[in-house]
Amino acid sequence: MNLLDPAALAQSFPHDFLWGVATSAAQIEGAALEDGKGASIWDHFCRQPGRINDGSNIDIACDHYHRFREDVALMRGLGLDCYRFSFSWPRVQPLGRGGWNEAGFAFYDRLIDELLEAGLQPHATLYHWDLPQALDESIGGWLSRDIVTCFADYATEVARRFGDRLASIATHNEPWCTATLGYETAQFAPGHTSRAESLQVAHHLLLSHGEAIAAMRAVTKARLGIVLNHTPSFPATPAEADRRAARIDDGLNVRWYMDPIFRGAYPADAFEFVGADAPTVEAGDLARIRQPLDFLGINFYTRSLFDAQGKAVKGPGKRGFTDMGWEIVPEVFAQHLVRLAREYNPPPMFITENGMANADRVVDGRVADTERIAYLSSHLQALATAMSLGADVRGYFYWSLLDNFEWNSGYDKRFGLVHVDYATQRRLLKDSAHWYRDLVARHHARR
Ligand code: FCB
Repeated sequence: MNLLDPAALAQSFPHDFLWGVATSAAQIEGAALEDGKGASIWDHFCRQPGRINDGSNIDIACDHYHRFREDVALMRGLGLDCYRFSFSWPRVQPLGRGGWNEAGFAFYDRLIDELLEAGLQPHATLYHWDLPQALDESIGGWLSRDIVTCFADYATEVARRFGDRLASIATHNEPWCTATLGYETAQFAPGHTSRAESLQVAHHLLLSHGEAIAAMRAVTKARLGIVLNHTPSFPATPAEADRRAARIDDGLNVRWYMDPIFRGAYPADAFEFVGADAPTVEAGDLARIRQPLDFLGINFYTRSLFDAQGKAVKGPGKRGFTDMGWEIVPEVFAQHLVRLAREYNPPPMFITENGMANADRVVDGRVADTERIAYLSSHLQALATAMSLGADVRGYFYWSLLDNFEWNSGYDKRFGLVHVDYATQRRLLKDSAHWYRDLVARHHARR
């Protein structure tokens, strides 16, 4: 099959498979303090010198708060079925507990209406990393067990107000990143450097997930789930020590979340490995975490390789690397999805993120991002293979609709199907957007 031919690829997916794109509030909305929004830990983090590579902030970002109609029209033009976005917690509850901000809710109300009118299913995420700064200052954010109740209250309020119009609600986006990059490696807000903190945070994230799912069940029939990032771990060499390092990393990245959520237990090998850094777990916590879910969202970008010291090393990159330096490994994507299906028998899965940063340039009014088309097509081919081998995947969301604020990398890394000129906020469809539109159209024609 010619991988770049969308017609051939479209044939590989069942007729009811869904096509979408994903974004998150902090990365695109802007309007950082408008209409009563509270500051988030990312608004705060951006103000700290040296945290963001290009020294930028998210005051304006893609100005989506004011341009959402234009952005929804872009998605409609691409013929997509669905859109994954996130609620900004401090926009709707500035202090993270107590009073609601009606103007903030009104924005999501307008956005959801606009999506439904455009024939796009709205898929929401409750927490994509923008914790209310006030909650970090008042209780220590995710370090405090008290946050579990705050999060469940916030989740319930969103589900109560919007559940009947949302196709799905995910509690967390990538809790591994929230915990590890936020509290252990300091790459992300709030920028702490303690493994013990990171693992306690992970436990509170998991518990808040379970409590929020249970609470939302009482008020909505929307499909409920969680989004996990999986970066499968491999040994750098066949040596036993490398294999063990990869196995431990798998325990900390994949199984640390999958096992409590689907099996009600932490992975014994990784738990033992972290020793005194292991979290405090109270009686009954694991049962609360293991709630029945309607879907599992998987975000896949790359893999990691580990040497005997447990250090990540650069892979051979047979298909190259993205602009993030991430090795392109679509075959690992297929293999991993099949593993999840076999080992966990999860609920229906969605690929809630997959995509690449590329050094895109506008030349004569066009962005010829052939690298992204190759990335997309090879990953979709891998996805079709995984599905034929038993992985139950119902839809795919490309990350991202727009170039946007890529966290500590700032605006340098471009992941969008649509190019954004930040000086003018002009949107321009890249060649990959045209290619994706073509694929979706061919697939729809077979429905
Ligand atoms: C994921 C995040 C998303 C984006 C992509 C590139 O880890 O969920 O917000 O930054 O990576």
